[in-house]
Amino acid sequence: MRISTTDILSRKNTTPIVVLTAYTAPIARILDNHADILLVGDSLGMVVYGMDDTVDVTLDMMIAHGSAVVKASQKALVVIDMPYGTYEASPELALVSAKRIMKETGAQAVKLEGGRDRAAAIRAIVQAGIGVMGHVGLLPQRVREMGGYRTQGRTTEEAAHIMQDALAVQEAGAFALVIEATQENVAREVTAKLSVPTIGIGASPACDGQVLVIDDMLGISARVPKFVKKYAHLDEAIAQAAAAYAAEVRNRAFPSEEFCFPDKNSLKA
Ligand code: KIV
Repeated sequence: MRISTTDILSRKNTTPIVVLTAYTAPIARILDNHADILLVGDSLGMVVYGMDDTVDVTLDMMIAHGSAVVKASQKALVVIDMPYGTYEASPELALVSAKRIMKETGAQAVKLEGGRDRAAAIRAIVQAGIGVMGHVGLLPQRVREMGGYRTQGRTTEEAAHIMQDALAVQEAGAFALVIEATQENVAREVTAKLSVPTIGIGASPACDGQVLVIDDMLGISARVPKFVKKYAHLDEAIAQAAAAYAAEVRNRAFPSEEFCFPDKNSLKA
């Protein structure tokens, strides 16, 4: 049985919640036994499609990858990011986009970025019976207007805004929220004040759970932020495998007999 949004809510102040991004079926299959939540993040624009940021990611892309992740997993709660331009204009638009994601992927919840300015959208989606994960602090979809990937909450005023955003997201009905790239004191105070779990990324261990972008922690991203720990160096393993294959193709060692179909007939007429 899948983990539900209620299960995640009940993890507040108990065992930390493990979240990883997943964009494809094979990775989702491997992560399903280890993560509580698989987040089909719009980071896929950069990770999978080589975009500079997440702004050009489309709903169709999220649905295609979300559906693959849902099909390949059985246990984890699957949350799908609502991409830029699919929820900001009005709560009605947000609801139409969220319903499309839910219907076409079979996911359990959606995630969207923003605080007080997105409370109405979150409320509309939650009232329709769809789980919403919020996202405050650094908002990658607004990175062009925020002037790059900067740590958030560095002044008392900025920190107060993050707190107000987090409270607005909770009040609107979100079952959890991501806090991205803030100092530890901001994450700690928000986590202490909220009754829903906080999931940190670059926001210290003070949160109720942690999320990392899968390619970053596996060591296959070209560049990673300072807060990423690489739990593997798959770039080296992949390069070694590709080099070994290339050498064997070039010297005709591959395919050897065991990788060929035995002759069962003769080609003579
Ligand atoms: O898009 C994403 O992967 C995310 C996480 C980094 C939180 O929003």
